[in-house]
Amino acid sequence: MKCSLLPHFFILFNMTNVLNGQIVNKESPEETRGIETLAGAISETVEERFSNDEEGIARRDAHPKATGCARAEFRLNAKLPIEWQTPLFQPGKSYPAFIRYSNATGAVRPDEIPDARGMAVKLFDISGTTLINPDNRHHDFIFASDNKFFLNSLSEYFGFLGNRDEFLGNNPDILANIREATSFVLSSPLEKQYFSQVPYKLNDRVVKYSVKPCQAFGPGVVPENAGPDYLSNAMNRKLKTEEACFNFMVQFYVNDEVTPINNVMVAWNESEAPFIKVGQIIIPRQNTQSEKMLELCENVSYNPFHAIAEHEPIGAINRIRRVVYQSIASLRRSLNQVPDFVMTSSDLPEPVGPTCNID
Ligand code: HEM
Repeated sequence: MKCSLLPHFFILFNMTNVLNGQIVNKESPEETRGIETLAGAISETVEERFSNDEEGIARRDAHPKATGCARAEFRLNAKLPIEWQTPLFQPGKSYPAFIRYSNATGAVRPDEIPDARGMAVKLFDISGTTLINPDNRHHDFIFASDNKFFLNSLSEYFGFLGNRDEFLGNNPDILANIREATSFVLSSPLEKQYFSQVPYKLNDRVVKYSVKPCQAFGPGVVPENAGPDYLSNAMNRKLKTEEACFNFMVQFYVNDEVTPINNVMVAWNESEAPFIKVGQIIIPRQNTQSEKMLELCENVSYNPFHAIAEHEPIGAINRIRRVVYQSIASLRRSLNQVPDFVMTSSDLPEPVGPTCNID
């Protein structure tokens, strides 16, 4: 990555606010140029890693290692207050879904190494027009294991990609967030709460999302003789015999102090803004390590802007992701010679058993 390309002209304005009950989420021309420069720099990294990849795969710049993929079903509660309803959030409605769990670090490493972890959920066959790629009829929810993001802005992201030690030395709060985000032990991708970290619209409100296993789970342990892929093995073992389930929850904006929109480095206060369950994700019994599943896991791509306007991603970090995810996904698909691949619900591998009601 050539960080001499960094735009020092770049100035970040706080462009997302709730003003008189209206959500204002604007991008300045400087920000647009900065985001394009960042996408170019990340593309260079992806190409460089591709040229050195032992398996000849062009991988994601972030979250390259899948720790398991699974088909799932996303079900909304039978009762939803009218003001939370959207073309997507309809009472009792369910959607076929595909989940990809991942390790965040840019290199593929053994699962024992502490890391932030991801859970990306794609819903298929939705109605309503999505903000990008409307023909795909996908709605994506992307979560990570910490309840906050580690930095706040495009300029900080450039700093992070440059001389990292120097940058983190000058930004102890970012370093502390990275340490916190990687300081837990995971037994299985199915035994963790995950968070959207950054805000989204829900009609005229602002929310964050979270998913939490329906059943209680203990503190994580790395098994003895874990092996480099113990997370994907743990998930496959469980799903061979049992189904799994996550509650899908929303947390509503209260005010800038309790639930800041422009500071994603702090979690929203759960005592004043509790998570409220609005649905469930059921993961039926299945083989998560079939060849077909592994191939889908590599080729699928998520983007927070695979979303209808009622659920628009907002804030500076999401504005970056709109461009970066699109360009990296299309670059890696073209390097992997699947340039036109778009996953549909008919690609979902069959479950082993029926999907039950876990409630
Ligand atoms: C400036 C901010 C961010 C940048 C530049 C960034 C960059 C990226 C990139 C390039 C990818 C790979 C996309 C692809 O090739 O399909 C990715 C994937 C991912 N990101 Fe981010 N990201 C950012 C913020 C976040 C945040 C706030 C979250 C919190 C939920 C997050 C969670 C994930 C996850 C879970 C994946 C893996 C998706 C999958 O399984 O395919 N990222 N990110």
